[in-house]
Amino acid sequence: MATYKIALLPGDGTGPEVLREGVKVVGAAAQRFGFTLDTTEYDFGGDRYLKTGEVLPDSAIEEFRGYDAIFLGAIGHPDVKPGILEKGILLRVRFELDQYINLRPVKLYPGVETPIKNKGPEDIDFAVVRENSADMYTGLGGIQRKGTPYEVAIQEMVYSRNEVDRCLRYAFEYTRKRNKKKTLTLCGKTNVLTYVFDLWERAFHEMGEKDYPDIKRDYAHVDATTMWMVKNPEWFDVIVTGNMFGDIITDLGAMIQGGMGIAAGGNINPEGVSMFEPIGGSAPKYTGMNIINPLACIFAGQMMLDHLGETDAAKCVERACVAFLQSGVLPGLSAKEIQECGLSTTKIGDMIADYAARV
Ligand code: IPM
Ligand code: MN
Repeated sequence: MATYKIALLPGDGTGPEVLREGVKVVGAAAQRFGFTLDTTEYDFGGDRYLKTGEVLPDSAIEEFRGYDAIFLGAIGHPDVKPGILEKGILLRVRFELDQYINLRPVKLYPGVETPIKNKGPEDIDFAVVRENSADMYTGLGGIQRKGTPYEVAIQEMVYSRNEVDRCLRYAFEYTRKRNKKKTLTLCGKTNVLTYVFDLWERAFHEMGEKDYPDIKRDYAHVDATTMWMVKNPEWFDVIVTGNMFGDIITDLGAMIQGGMGIAAGGNINPEGVSMFEPIGGSAPKYTGMNIINPLACIFAGQMMLDHLGETDAAKCVERACVAFLQSGVLPGLSAKEIQECGLSTTKIGDMIADYAARV
């Protein structure tokens, strides 16, 4: 029987609450499909930092390299200055484990409400392949003459050909494997960022022409992309973009698929250790109330199973979520709505785990 070693990083706020349910549902699928998860929990996050001053020791990074995957709850603590935990844990793991792809499916499930008028599940089903290792996130730049009227701040958008190529390679392969519209849209800003997106555009067409003649290539500026995502989301199949633009457009993507309560993502190193997470954040005001929606984390678990090659179990988790969403017990995905209808984070996890054992 296959056993997968999983590092659990519950993190801050509601992270531990949603991760518990993610593990529960993934565990139910594992039991049904005949494999096991050997989990180890790490308590990195705001509380540990406030108590000990330690964010993430080098030894933890080395340990993470020995796992089959990492499953993350949320990072971000109201008493810790913004940036310390995000950069020190989330971004550090992404960078050090070279998780150079951030895969974010944008899929509207039946039974989930979208704020976009006249659009349904048949219209909203695409994925964003966000480059996850470079761009303005590298920290190249600095501040000079700080605090004076002559202060200058620089934060540069940096891409090497290799970073662009490996991201494009993943995106083309993913589009082919997805096998839907077989269309890959490059999202950039070639009309203004004439260096960085010139590189992206050339690499995109060179690779597409040479190795992916079966994949249709399309291009959209990032501002227009946000417009089309709202106006005609059905046009998209897979969008590939840089780290910064990907960060922005995937929050919009999360909203059109029903909100942060349902959006999941994978930080993927196709040759190494990947990390799966709900993309919503730590929702500090709901901490400990057992009313935060665990669906995003459960979908992250589905992505993790798929990545581990347990595709039947992954599909089962998705069917279980759909069965739950269509059962109509949940009036909406927000913590408030969960509380009002008398459900809870734990109960939702129980119900989906129960579906996972039989649907
Ligand atoms: C995300 C988040 C992170 C990012 C933050 C928390 C550093 O917004 O995963 O999208 O910018 O990548
Ligand atoms: Mn973001």
